[in-house]
Amino acid sequence: MTELHLQCEPLAPLLGTWQGTGVGHYPTIDDFTYVEELVFSHVGKPFVSMIQRTRNRVTGEPLHSEAGYLRALPDGQLEFTIAQPSGVTEVHLGTVRTSDSGLVIELSSEHVGLTPTAKEVTSVRRELTVEGMRLYSELWMAAVGYTELVHHLRGELTRQD
Ligand code: HEM
Repeated sequence: MTELHLQCEPLAPLLGTWQGTGVGHYPTIDDFTYVEELVFSHVGKPFVSMIQRTRNRVTGEPLHSEAGYLRALPDGQLEFTIAQPSGVTEVHLGTVRTSDSGLVIELSSEHVGLTPTAKEVTSVRRELTVEGMRLYSELWMAAVGYTELVHHLRGELTRQD
């Protein structure tokens, strides 16, 4: 088995496959619920790969998906690049730390890139918390005319492996 890069050691609790459900909302859309699969893996270099897929919890139709790389720097600093099929890319800066209950990753977008036909997203904040077999993810965004960060998603996943 490939050894985890030293700089990725703080991220070790993330590695593996997670599945669960989430709720989503935004002032401009109807509330929705989703099913999510999230996979974090590594190849021994100082980054962790992420692939995520979601489906509508009621109809099973595919919803949002994304893929990215969580780059581990010394001293718990992180850089995160994410690409979405909706034409949005996110570059985040953040940190990983250990709290009383587990691992906490906090990320704020340094840059959001948009293709010409993507919906307007100007800023994103993400938080991932790992507590043993459970992973909680939260996302806030400033988008489609809202200039302040507004909550969009909360997911609760369970480790599968
Ligand atoms: C678990 C991940 C996500 C799920 C399940 C999800 C789901 C949805 C759904 C169902 C809608 C409303 C219908 C639609 O436009 O398709 C929506 C709208 C939207 N989402 Fe997400 N989303 C996710 C992540 C994200 C992320 C990461 C971003 C951007 C960083 C984002 C940005 C948007 C925007 C800009 C809209 C349009 C709002 C509007 O047109 O009023 N979403 N999302």
